[in-house]
Amino acid sequence: MPDRRQFLRRATVCAAALSFQNGSLGQTMLHTSTSIAAATADFNPDIEIALTARVASVNLRAGGATTLWRYEGAVLTGAATAFSYLDSNSHIPIIRASRGQKIRVRFTNALPESTTVHWHGLHMVQKMDGHPMYAIAPGATFVYEFVVDNRAGTYWFHPHPHERTGYQVYHGLSGLFLVSDSEEAAAQLPQGEKDLALIIQDRTFDSGNQLVYLGARRQERMQGFSGQQVLVNGQLGYTREAQRTAYRLRIFNASNASSYLLKWAHGQAFRIIGTDGGLLEEALERQTLSIAPAERIEVWVDFAGFAAGQELQLLAETYTPALDNITSSQSGATLIQGGRPIATFRLAGPATSTSTPPTRLSTYPPLLLSEAINQQSARRVQLSMMQGNAMLNGRIYGAMDEVADDEKVRAQTVEVWEFANDSPVGMLMAHPMHVHNVQFRVLSRSVSSVQSTQLQTLRSGIVDEGLKDVVQVLPGERVKVLMRFEPHTGIYLTHCHILEHEDLGMMRNLLVQTALRKLDTVKSGGAATTAVIAGAISADGGLSVTNEVTAPARVDIHAGISPETGHVGRAAGIVVVLQLLHSNSWLTLTASGELRPFNSAAIEFYKEIASLQNYHEIALYSGSLTANEKGVFNLYIGYAVDASRSASDLIYSAEPLTLTVR
Ligand code: C2O
Ligand code: CU
Ligand code: CU
Repeated sequence: MPDRRQFLRRATVCAAALSFQNGSLGQTMLHTSTSIAAATADFNPDIEIALTARVASVNLRAGGATTLWRYEGAVLTGAATAFSYLDSNSHIPIIRASRGQKIRVRFTNALPESTTVHWHGLHMVQKMDGHPMYAIAPGATFVYEFVVDNRAGTYWFHPHPHERTGYQVYHGLSGLFLVSDSEEAAAQLPQGEKDLALIIQDRTFDSGNQLVYLGARRQERMQGFSGQQVLVNGQLGYTREAQRTAYRLRIFNASNASSYLLKWAHGQAFRIIGTDGGLLEEALERQTLSIAPAERIEVWVDFAGFAAGQELQLLAETYTPALDNITSSQSGATLIQGGRPIATFRLAGPATSTSTPPTRLSTYPPLLLSEAINQQSARRVQLSMMQGNAMLNGRIYGAMDEVADDEKVRAQTVEVWEFANDSPVGMLMAHPMHVHNVQFRVLSRSVSSVQSTQLQTLRSGIVDEGLKDVVQVLPGERVKVLMRFEPHTGIYLTHCHILEHEDLGMMRNLLVQTALRKLDTVKSGGAATTAVIAGAISADGGLSVTNEVTAPARVDIHAGISPETGHVGRAAGIVVVLQLLHSNSWLTLTASGELRPFNSAAIEFYKEIASLQNYHEIALYSGSLTANEKGVFNLYIGYAVDASRSASDLIYSAEPLTLTVR
């Protein structure tokens, strides 16, 4: 073990003597990397899919083919059912996986512009999350590898490129990602043909059957794009035959900006069994459903009580983000009770009564307000729209790795957030707010300061129950949610899921930093994360959150590495890089404990690890610091596996351990 004291002293000396300058190297080496991920040799996926996004011609409706952007897939490993299309012939793909399975998606971008694939609602390491910083150029590939560690539920995937998400999703790029698990199986819900997804999207077609999207004007984007027709599973006037028995309907609003108020034409209430993050604990009833972009609501419906030949219609009213009810200006079937039928079930066959769904659908660990580190002072996200900008806390999306101080959280902590849509200036609209990599609980919804029938109507159908990754925040409301950040560290996103708002910049990075804990409470086996620094313990044994030490002091500095899942069990070289802030020079720690200028062409490894575990700790220094080591240091730790030990393969902690010695 190197002598940390020596390490720091040498650092100061080296910086002065070498005047080694390479700040930009440090930047590219860290989380701003756009390097394209390749397959990991011993990842051994349970499911491997080749997925391509390309321009295609699809017959959506009579009158000629429509040019769409679509995902095409093929299963390379695993059950053939792992990849299919909705209703077997639509352009909307479905990936099916079970919890715990390892997924590899070999993605090829055959589009004329850059894209990424984001796995909405699923937890995974930063690099696989489809963040716009990992833009995949036309013609390039990116291999996504992750372990499904979400509960059974209706998740989805879609592009997330900088400022182009709205365009790409609108033109056809979105798919379902259905996760199953044993708990879901135990609930004995309708399966196979009786487990139906209903994907609602609005589109506008020109006379040649081509899609029409909005222009580049900021004002149009502020309003969000709502189409003239509402499609279900890619079809206008979606009609299907249904058996007289129970069905599980997975209703998903995949529109760019419109919200819908749904009801059955025959007046039956909806029996809700699940939301964004999977099954509820117990079913609940609602007369109407209000569903905003990106939300999923699962309902259980029994058709046994209806006669063969009878047609049951699902009606929808369409609301723009400004809460204008535009149902009557849309075209399609005739208006019924203020809505238009968007899906029709024509009943057939003998009645097979299935009574009711199980009373206990699932159980999940409670997420309690008492666990929050900020029970009394919610982290506020103020929504506002002014001068052509849609903002979060007065900011629009900036540089790919820009993170403000109030956008940093700690992994594995529980926080209360408050989305406040009550800006005294600017325009008030409904914003469906989404946070990556978490499933939260909605705690409370204030009484809106805005009064309107539309607001009341939509509000009565909102489903805040269960685990959610999107929450509707209506004009004038404040909504509090409670979330536990996953063990994955790195840069994720918070944004409005009106895709035009997201593209306008109503999106901010969210940096999940390493959990800073006392080392004796650090548990092994954290799930896949990038390399992290576990924390510094100050002289009194307490945790130094700011990592400030007043010399002389006794310090123990440890670094922890949680390798990415595919790297567990592999041999690795550990790299320690030290940035000296006053000179902006970069140094590395050698195996003999010496500091040398960092050279990306010839990486020097500090330590060899024969087989990476889920969590590794390395003691970097243990001892006392004296006053002649004053200064500010940024410590990064990283690793590279096996043969691929080059700078581009280094996996670093996104956040350095900053040590200030006073
Ligand atoms: Cu559907 Cu950033 O998300
Ligand atoms: Cu998402
Ligand atoms: Cu919005």
